[in-house]
Amino acid sequence: MSFNTFGHLFRVTTFGESHGPAIGCVVDGCPPRIPLNESDIQPYLDRRRPGQSRYTTQRQEPDAVKILSGVFVDELSGAQVTTGTPIALVIENVDQRSKDYSDIKDKYRPGHADYTYDVKYGLRDYRGGGRQSARETAMRVAAGAIARKIVPGLTVRGALLQMGPHRIDRARWDWAEVERNPFFCPDAKTAAMLGDYLDDLRKSGSSIGAVIEVVAEGVPAGLGAPIYGKLDGDLAAALMSINAVKGVEIGAGFAAAELSGEQNGDEMRMGNDGKPLFLSNNAGGILGGISTGQPVVARFAVKPTSSVLTPRRTVDRYGRETEISTTGRHDPCVGIRAVPIGEAMVACVIADHYLRQRGQVGESPAWPFPQPAR
Ligand SMILES: Cc1cc2nc3c(=O)[nH]c(=O)nc-3n(C[C@H](O)[C@H](O)[C@H](O)COP(=O)(O)O)c2cc1C
Repeated sequence: MSFNTFGHLFRVTTFGESHGPAIGCVVDGCPPRIPLNESDIQPYLDRRRPGQSRYTTQRQEPDAVKILSGVFVDELSGAQVTTGTPIALVIENVDQRSKDYSDIKDKYRPGHADYTYDVKYGLRDYRGGGRQSARETAMRVAAGAIARKIVPGLTVRGALLQMGPHRIDRARWDWAEVERNPFFCPDAKTAAMLGDYLDDLRKSGSSIGAVIEVVAEGVPAGLGAPIYGKLDGDLAAALMSINAVKGVEIGAGFAAAELSGEQNGDEMRMGNDGKPLFLSNNAGGILGGISTGQPVVARFAVKPTSSVLTPRRTVDRYGRETEISTTGRHDPCVGIRAVPIGEAMVACVIADHYLRQRGQVGESPAWPFPQPAR
């Protein structure tokens, strides 16, 4: 059985292929009366859009989103708002060049999903990979823009931490810098090196991987559905579902293996706002699968683009050994455009859990609790 839907109460179904006439999604479960226009969604799509700099694929897609349903003008305010019915969004594909793929029509790209799609379905949409292409992720970004509007005070931001051997220095982290360079890199000094590095890589016909961090602030304490719908479990699944993502960490992640219990456990004091103040955030804002109220921090590793110019050994769909060299338009580092996609998936998961928490618990209990008299 195929599975093209994610989320429980905030439910996103995507459809469409890389080289079909359009891609789209249906967002079901969005509460009514939330102001929503195309202009709320488009800026996020523009951040993910191909052809934005010479460091990403030169496929020219305006990615102009249209809202087909689920909105109506509110008589009182005059604003267009959600109606509580399914919101259908569509983006036309305008720059398909299926010809680019005719040379590799029958050959499997090592590292790509050509073989697995073919062996599973028995047919091959060689035009850019069809549904296996990350073109579909534009719709996740569109859905993420709606998700961000559901949780009051939520901010979800992502940044590139590492590209190949180049790692940022966290001491130089500046969120404003993320919007100033084409790599979503928070460290200006590292960003300054990435241009030349990618130019050399592109000239050699190769590609490279990356590590991305997404931070969600304003996540209320109490989100997450133990045991099988833990917030960290759902975030990991959502991030892992992004094309080319090969690893996910929450908070200290794999580095926690080197820490002692004293170093790892985030100590607690009382904050001035009457809420607990955690003295560190190794938990990445989640304990027991439930949000603590601290920023939720997730990282993911993106593998290098499989479509490389360098000739590689492979087989074709008729079982013959051959060689493949992928021309056409590809990102030398797909990790760059994965930043807004990661943000969107985190926003969708948090919105889903926010609605689930409201559904099961209603108002979260007032904390701290009154101490019972003895
Ligand atoms: C934004 C983005 C763009 C991508 N573009 C390409 C591409 O141009 N060429 C390519 O070979 N892979 C590209 N990928 C990766 C493939 O879609 C992915 O590696 C492939 O579907 C196999 O799936 P897997 O890597 O998750 O196992 C891209 C991934 C992302 C996130």
